[in-house]
Amino acid sequence: MKIVSAGKARIMELREKKKEKIRNDLEAYGSEILNSDEMREAFCQTHHTRSTVGEHTQRVAEKSLAICYALDRLHIRTDIPAVVTGSLCHDLGILGRDEKYESERECYRHHPVDSLEVARKLVDILPDKTRDIIEHHMWPTAGSKAPGSLEGIIVSAADKAAAVEDFIRGSKVKPADLKTTVRTIAERSSLSWKKKK
Ligand SMILES: [Fe+2]
Ligand SMILES: [Fe+2]
Repeated sequence: MKIVSAGKARIMELREKKKEKIRNDLEAYGSEILNSDEMREAFCQTHHTRSTVGEHTQRVAEKSLAICYALDRLHIRTDIPAVVTGSLCHDLGILGRDEKYESERECYRHHPVDSLEVARKLVDILPDKTRDIIEHHMWPTAGSKAPGSLEGIIVSAADKAAAVEDFIRGSKVKPADLKTTVRTIAERSSLSWKKKK
């Protein structure tokens, strides 16, 4: 029988608590995005060579929220709904990249604006802060202006960290088939996916 030390058990317990908090926040503020056809499609489009747009998005959302929780312990409050919506939508404009953009440069510069369009379609009310997070998430790359809020900087930083992880760890979903990916995100976010008729 494997014996787990008290310290290790405590770390595992805290990790589980954080995962649950992330799941709850994603469900509370991002269910319509997570259940959208766009997010479904995101798990089928390759991103950062070895990952998918969907998994990258999930990494960005999780990292962003983890930063917010850490800041909260320092009494620095953040707008969680804006972080959830902004991180989940930030790259959805990149869907259909090969047909949409003529070059990588064009994709880099224009997909934040296209992501904003997708977000407007998926979310009823898009506050200025959320718009700013999506529009300026490429900062400090692609000639992007800096985000105008702490939440924007958090998502931009999480985006870069997630991109590195995409390149190194790649996709956890092999092959990127829809059934598997839907199950993966449903398990991780505790959401029930609407079946397409
Ligand atoms: Fe992006
Ligand atoms: Fe991204």
